[in-house]
Amino acid sequence: MKNRIDEQKDSLRKHHFGEETYESRVSFFIQALTEWFAKEGRDLPWRHTRNPYKILVSEIMLQQTNVDIVIPIYKRFLRKFPTIQILAESPLEEVKRITDQLGYKRRGEYLHDIAKQIVFEKNGVFPSTFDDLLTLKGIGRYTAGAILSFAYEKADKTAAIVDVNVERVLGRIFGLWDFKRNSRYNKKIWVLSEALISSGDVWVINQGILDLGALICVAGKPKCPICPMIAICEYYVVEVPKIVKLDSFF
Ligand code: ADE
Repeated sequence: MKNRIDEQKDSLRKHHFGEETYESRVSFFIQALTEWFAKEGRDLPWRHTRNPYKILVSEIMLQQTNVDIVIPIYKRFLRKFPTIQILAESPLEEVKRITDQLGYKRRGEYLHDIAKQIVFEKNGVFPSTFDDLLTLKGIGRYTAGAILSFAYEKADKTAAIVDVNVERVLGRIFGLWDFKRNSRYNKKIWVLSEALISSGDVWVINQGILDLGALICVAGKPKCPICPMIAICEYYVVEVPKIVKLDSFF
């Protein structure tokens, strides 16, 4: 049985989007994201490399830490440990001297452990499949997907990435948001992410969604008037009018 929010979404969806199909909205999304990202995407240091070691370092650092804080620490780290071999052979204290500045103190240990695992147990060969990446300490589905899409440009479903930001962006645009944010909802977003990356350039789509979440579709008050997805966004139709009403009330 449908709840009140789903019924409301259904009726507004029909009113606003007519008979538009899911496929046509996916293709709009891919094209609009690609054009917007080319103009507005952030120029970040880890976007200039396809080296899996450097991508790994950036993704581990970006777990729970803001881009602005990560940038100088990422650069310092790679100057000191330019290759995975050098990292594996360095003392942990030297690694932590840099990574502890990120705030969460386990990150240095993760990076050092992963480097040792790859260099000493895998003959220095960086894993390039989903299952192999998951054998590395501290690497879950998101980080494996990030490495597969950003370093290897794999576009199969293992390269999907979903974190709270991707969840918010896709959930809003495609009308899947659920204020209770349960695991069924999370599964739907993973399936959607898998479908999207198979419809365009996987690197651009994953980086583009992250930028949309950081620059436009922010958690607090989304910047809908300048959003490239305004024409297809369900959240804009259903929820934003309520926020605006509240704003003008206070
Ligand atoms: N957060 C996690 N991965 C990221 C990336 N590649 N670019 C920007 N923010 C991120």
